[in-house]
Amino acid sequence: MKVKPYKNNDDVFVYINEEGIEKIATRSLVPGQQVYGEKLVTQDSVEYRTWEPRRSKLAAALLKGLIPNLIKPGMKILYLGAASGTTPSHISDMIGKTGRLYCIEFSPRVCRELVTISEPRSNMIPILADVRFPESYASLIENVDLIYSDVAQPEQAEIISLNSRWFLKSKSRIILCVKARSVDVTQKPSVIYQAQTDILKQNSFDVEQLIDLSPYSEDHAMIIAKS
Ligand SMILES: C[S@@+](CC[C@H](N)C(=O)[O-])C[C@H]1O[C@@H](n2cnc3c(N)ncnc32)[C@H](O)[C@@H]1O
Repeated sequence: MKVKPYKNNDDVFVYINEEGIEKIATRSLVPGQQVYGEKLVTQDSVEYRTWEPRRSKLAAALLKGLIPNLIKPGMKILYLGAASGTTPSHISDMIGKTGRLYCIEFSPRVCRELVTISEPRSNMIPILADVRFPESYASLIENVDLIYSDVAQPEQAEIISLNSRWFLKSKSRIILCVKARSVDVTQKPSVIYQAQTDILKQNSFDVEQLIDLSPYSEDHAMIIAKS
């Protein structure tokens, strides 16, 4: 087995598994830690965590041509809707010990799992809060290089825009996961993706990429935009 960088990404890797299937992975910040039952592989004494595109929309987006190197070592990132830490843990691997990942989650039960995952990860800061009220966590967060949002709420584009006004450095990016059915079950997903893109444009973002995440995540898309 040979692990090598995935396409033009410096911090995402690829290997071929025993069944001959291509798998992407991140270099583990916490060797030995499995966050969601993912397979761990070791090469030259370095441990990598397999990144499952059906469990993480960011992995799906990478496989579908996401702009490379959006997430780099040392970045400060705000993550809205961190859940129990599946995707956040891979971002934590990518930003390394000098980065900082502020993870907001409003479900106390889920946040407890997030705290457990975060404990050995010095760059992950779990925060129990509601992303609709950034003023409630403003004192805990510095200005960030990127905001990632996956809250599966009808007003998801407005929420990331609001948080950007509070915390995003100028000329920086946002990554918005759009769940079409959270917005309107009666509309075609493509119409909803376009409407969410329009809301970001109205909030002064330049939209750089819109990725339909099927077949990994049906009725979901990812929008990349710059302030
Ligand atoms: C689709 S899940 C996130 C999955 C996660 N991003 C991942 O890939 O590992 C959406 C999460 O957003 C949280 N959420 C929804 N609305 C929220 C709000 N207003 N404030 C904070 N968290 C919220 C939910 O509790 C849920 O855990």
